[in-house]
Order: sequence, then C-alpha cells, then structure tokens
Amino acid sequence: MCGIIGYKGNKDGNEVVLKGLHSLEYRGYDSWGIASVHENEIKIIKKVGQIGHIKLKDLGFPKSNLALGHTRWATHGGVSEINAHPHLSKNKKIVVVHNGIVENFQELRRFLEEQGFEFISETDSEIFPHLIEYFMEQKINFEGAVRRTLNKIEGSFAIVAINLESKEMVGARHGSPLVAGIGNGEFFLASDVPPFLAYTKKAVYLDDGELTIINKHIKFINIETGKEIKKQHQTIEWDVEQAKKGKYPHFMLKEINEQKDTIKLAAEQPPELIKKVTKMIEDARGVFFVGCGTSYHACVSAAYVFAKISKIHVNVVIASEFSEYEDFLTDKTLVVALSQSGETADLLEAIRTAKKHNCKTFSVVNVVGSSLTRLCDRNIMMNAGPEICVLSTKSYTSQLTILLLLAYSVAGKLGKAKELIDTVSKSVGEIIDTNLKKLKQLATKIKDATDFFLIGRGLAFPSALEGALKIKEISYIHAEGFAGAELKHGTIALIEDGVPVFVLSTPATRHLILSNAMEIKSRGGYIIGIDSEDNDVFDYFIKVPDVGNAEPILWIIPIQIFSYYIALARGCDPDKPRNLAKSVTVK
Ligand code: AGP
Repeated sequence: MCGIIGYKGNKDGNEVVLKGLHSLEYRGYDSWGIASVHENEIKIIKKVGQIGHIKLKDLGFPKSNLALGHTRWATHGGVSEINAHPHLSKNKKIVVVHNGIVENFQELRRFLEEQGFEFISETDSEIFPHLIEYFMEQKINFEGAVRRTLNKIEGSFAIVAINLESKEMVGARHGSPLVAGIGNGEFFLASDVPPFLAYTKKAVYLDDGELTIINKHIKFINIETGKEIKKQHQTIEWDVEQAKKGKYPHFMLKEINEQKDTIKLAAEQPPELIKKVTKMIEDARGVFFVGCGTSYHACVSAAYVFAKISKIHVNVVIASEFSEYEDFLTDKTLVVALSQSGETADLLEAIRTAKKHNCKTFSVVNVVGSSLTRLCDRNIMMNAGPEICVLSTKSYTSQLTILLLLAYSVAGKLGKAKELIDTVSKSVGEIIDTNLKKLKQLATKIKDATDFFLIGRGLAFPSALEGALKIKEISYIHAEGFAGAELKHGTIALIEDGVPVFVLSTPATRHLILSNAMEIKSRGGYIIGIDSEDNDVFDYFIKVPDVGNAEPILWIIPIQIFSYYIALARGCDPDKPRNLAKSVTVK
C-alpha cells in the first residue's frame, strides 16, 4: 500500500523523486523518505507525516542523477523515522524501498543477525538491503544478489534498489505493482504511472516474478531463472493534467465534478467487447461478482440490476471471502472482478482462486495495465482517467454505468441502456451545480452529529451502503447503510432527537421507504430525503430526476458532495483520510 519510485537519468533525481512522491502519496502517507545517490555515498532523508509541501531545497541534497523514494502506509513497525523507507545495507552501499509484506521476515532476520547484520528498524523491508549485501559478499554481482534475495522472500513485494558502487538501479515485483517508464536516456520505476507522465508516456508493466535492471540501458529478467525477457512498452493515454488538481482545491471535488463526463465515457465501450462479455454471462453456469469497499457496493448493485433487468441471479461476494465459495467453482463459472485500481490484493487473490478452478473471468477496471487486467480473460475499462483521491467517487458511477450497460445487453436491450445513460449524464451537471452550495450549508449545520444512517430499498440499498462508507471514511463519523425495513430490526434503538438519516427514495419503493422514514421521524430522526419529488416527511430535500433503473448512478452524487463538505467542516483532509490508502495491496 506504499508508493515507491526510482529514477536514473540526466535530470536531478531528487526533484523527479520528490515530485513523484507527491503524486504517489495517495498510496500511503504516514511517513516518507528519499535516497539521493552520489559519487561515494547515499544521502537519506526520512520524515514522519505527509510529504505535502516539502520543497526540493528542504531536502538539502546536492543534485544527483540517481535517486529513489517511498511514501509509507505502515504494516510492520510503527510510524517513525526509523521505520520509514529507504533502508540501507550494513555497508551503506545498497539502498532499497519496498511495497508489500515479507511473510518470512522473522526467519530471514534471525538468519541475517546470525551473520552479523544489525537491524535498525522494526520493518520487514530492512531484510532486502542486508540480504543483497550478504549475497554480494559472496562475490555475486548486484543483479544476481537481488535475484537470490527475492527468491528467498515469501510474501509480496515491489522493490527499487540501488547499488552505490555500480550505480545500477533494479526494480522487481511479486504481488505489488511496478511499472517502468522509458524516457529519452532516462528511466523511471514507480508503483503507478503519474510520477513519470510529465516526462514520458512509454511504460512497461512488470509482471509477477520479473526484475528489471537499469544501467545505461534497461533489461527485463525472470527472477527465478535469470533469463532475459523481451517486453513490449505501452503508450499511456492519460494526460499529465488529468493527474493534477488544476483549479480545484482537492482531488475529491475535481473527481466528483468529472462525473459530468466520466459516466458517458464509461458507456463508450467497444461493441465487440460488450457482445463477448454478454455471451460470457449468458453461457455461465453460476456468476460471481467480487470486489472490495466501494467496488463491492457496485457488486451489490449488480445483483439488483441483473435480477431486475436481465432476470438472472448473480452471486455477490466480498473478495476477501471468495475462497469460502471454492467448492462451487468450475470451468463453467464466471467470476467478474470490479476494481478501480486493479491492484487490490484481496481481489487479485480471488481471481487467482477462480483461475485455479478454470473459471472464466472478466474485470471492470480503471487502471490500464494493472495486475487485474493481466489476470482476467477480458477487461472492460472504465475510461475514468486517474482517480487520485483516496475515496472512490467517479470510479463508482463508472462501474454502475457499465453494469447497467451489461444488464441491458444480457436482456437484449442495449439501446435502452444507452438512452438511460445519456439522460443520466445530462442530469449529472445540474445535480452537482445546484447542490454544491446547499450541501455545504447542510454539512456545516450537522457536522457535529455522531451517527448517520442511510436507508434505501431495492436498487437504492447498495447506494445506502456506499453513502455510509463515503461519510465515515472522510469525516470519521459513524455511518451505516441499511435496507429500508431493516433498521427497525434493532438499529432503530439508536435513533433519537436530531440523528440524521438519509432516505433514498424511488417511485417504485416510495410508499414503503416513506413509512420507514416516518418511523424514524417519530423517534426524533432528522430526515434528509433524496427523491424526484418532495414529501412532508423530509426535513431536508435533495432532488434527483427519476431515471428509472439508472437511479443508483445519481443518488450517490449528492452524498459524495455532502461527504466532501462535512470533511471540510470538521477540518479533515478529504483527499487523504487518516489510516487509509488508495490501493490496498496487502491481504
Ligand atoms: C472507497 O472510497 C475506497 N477507496 C475503498 O473502499 C476501495 O473502493 C477499495 O479499497 C477497493 O479498491 P479498488 O476499487 O481499487 O479495488
């Protein structure tokens, strides 16, 4: 869940790495560190906290053409300068940054300590530089020593390592993402493409079990065999401007606004691909939708839209629980993976489980070249552009759009889906523009609430779940989403004077959900209604147009806006909520 970057070329590596870390901070931000490599020494700076406003001059490093950096989301070892990366070997000639978890680190640490290596930090990652040095002491070259080290590791890693003496840089991956950027006489290694988009659009995604060594040239090698691999580069279509905040104070607000375009873009899929994926759904005996967090909520929505529109039953499973269903997997099963990043460890594991049973797979994913795209048989790209804010916003509505497209396609009514999506995307701008100011006021008014509840029936239920996640992850206020009738089976005990409850109401469910709202109001609840028409039970009304089965795409938008403003009203950083990271690359 950390971000790593390395640079070798003719620019000032300190600057490239510092800027790169700014754009990787969404992957973890409890501490950071940079190593700058010079003729005879490696200079290191490490700090606790976000890299935020750190400037090049604050590093205090002379220029260097070779540098690496890390922004951390702690797993092994508390948040401290000592535990922050990069880590140095005993002789201070090898420096490493790592993203992942070394599962056999205690055993390796014991071994290295017996060989006289002293560990400075509590991290599992410090294994790497020491073990590399240990192998190099046996007259093995840098590349060979890195390979031997990696072959001893159990767990997951993406690493960048530099050897002071040979000035070589190595990157390798197993289970955590790493991509090489190839510029004009310069090379980048990073967890994701934004750190090098300003310099090059040529990228080579490493696969698990691959290593790259960079000296004057770049070479790719199989970690186990040491054999060279020929890899093709891809041209990244994302624009550097898309990965910047531009006129917006936060990525979250920018990404909420981008939904004016991204919903439409999500629906622009190659017709041949939609045909093929539709056939996969039709031919399957057993369909599972898997995802985590927001993407899981989109899966729950899939269950409703496929039941309602395509008249088929699909199973929905939280990716980390998927192995419990192994007994039901065959070569006729279809497993559909939903993910923004395509790097979520639990989801990748679920797809590996599916593959073990020869299931068919396809993904709905945003990040081109991500691990998920290389695991699945087919991939539907969301076309949403980079989503930098830790909270998923535009990726959720893109997922919902694609699910709607598929559900109608299975029902043989693709044209209807396109019509609906067209109507929806025309309404998005108005919903955003008319609600920004209003919802800011509402958020400010109720910012001190200690609990939020959200209820919805049918298609609105998954939106209630997702709305609750948005509120709690950004404002740190307890929030829970329920199917409308479910609250009175226990949780209604928590309703008292002034407790805010979002009621997501639709023409189809209105008569029942409004009775549920009434039950809450009678106990003092403050009712915020989202509907196409106002009702006396609502203390506060948010209007969204009636767009039938496409409603879930619209309901979530006012809640995203509300969440953004309640975070601001409470002094929380909307882009970087505490304890979170954008890509959860550990299981
Ligand atoms: C939600 O706002 C979070 N970003 C989180 O729940 C996220 O949806 C989850 O970690 C899954 O990520 P993915 O879509 O990249 O797989």
